Amino acid sequence: MKKKLVVLTGAGMSVESGLSTFRDSGGLWDRYPVEDVATPEGWERNPALVQEFYNKRRKELLTVEPNKGHFGLATLEKDYDVTVITQNVDNLHERAGSTHVIHLHGELTKVRSTKNENRIYELSPDHYEIKADETDRYGDQLRPHIVWFGEAVPMIEPAIEITEEADIFVVIGTSLNVYPAAGLLRYVRPQVPIYLIDPKEVKVPVDRSVRVIQKGASEGVAELIALLRR
Ligand code: APR
Repeated sequence: MKKKLVVLTGAGMSVESGLSTFRDSGGLWDRYPVEDVATPEGWERNPALVQEFYNKRRKELLTVEPNKGHFGLATLEKDYDVTVITQNVDNLHERAGSTHVIHLHGELTKVRSTKNENRIYELSPDHYEIKADETDRYGDQLRPHIVWFGEAVPMIEPAIEITEEADIFVVIGTSLNVYPAAGLLRYVRPQVPIYLIDPKEVKVPVDRSVRVIQKGASEGVAELIALLRR
C-alpha cells in the first residue's frame, strides 16, 4: 500500500513554465482589475472583456510546457499514491503526467453552459477562443469553467477528504492568501509532515511546524524527492 502524498499547488508552480503569478509584482492582478475579469459581477457587466481575458490566457497556455517541477511530481507516482490539489487553471500537471489532479478553481481549457453547469465542454487547441456571445448546441451562452471570487468551490469537499488521509503534505508556489484553498492546511493530521516549496517566505496560516525548501518549483521538487528517498 503506497503512502498518500498530497500536493497543494498555486501559480508559482507554473512560473518556470513562463506563466504569471497573481500577486508577485507584475502579476496578473497588477495588469487586470480582478473585479472586472474574475467575478460574477464583472461577467454580468462586460462578458466580452472576461471572455477576452480567458481567451488570452488559453492562447498563452498553448505556448508553454510543463517544467521540471511538474514532471518531478509526476515521477513521485512511482513511489506514492499522489494527488495534486491545484489552484491553477492551467493543464500543466496533467501534461507532465500527473494522473490524479483536482482543480479547485476550474480549468482554462474548459467552458460551460451558463444555464446548466453540468454541461462542460473541453476546448480543442484549434478552438480555444470563445466569442462573447458564443452558445452551446442548446443555445445556452457559454462562460469560462473557472471559479470566480465569490463563487462556490465545489471541489473543496473531495480536496478536504483527501487532505485528511494524507501521509505527507506538500505546498508549492502559493501565497496561501485565498480560501478555502489555504484552509486545507487545517485538515492535515497533526503527525503528518508538511513541506513548503517557495523561493519567498510564505506566512503559513496554521500554527504548526513546516519544513521549508526556499527554492523555485523545479529545484525544490528535486530536493523534496531526494529528502523523501532518504
Ligand atoms: N517556484 C515556486 N513558487 C514561486 C515561484 C517559483 N519559481 N515564483 C514565485 N513563486 C511563489 C510566490 O513566492 C508566491 O508565494 O508563488 C506564489 C504565488 O502566489 P499568488 O500569486 O498569490 O498565487 P496563488 O497563491 O496561486 O493565488 C491563489 O488566487 O487570484 C486567485 O484564483 C487565483 O488560484 C489563484 C488564487
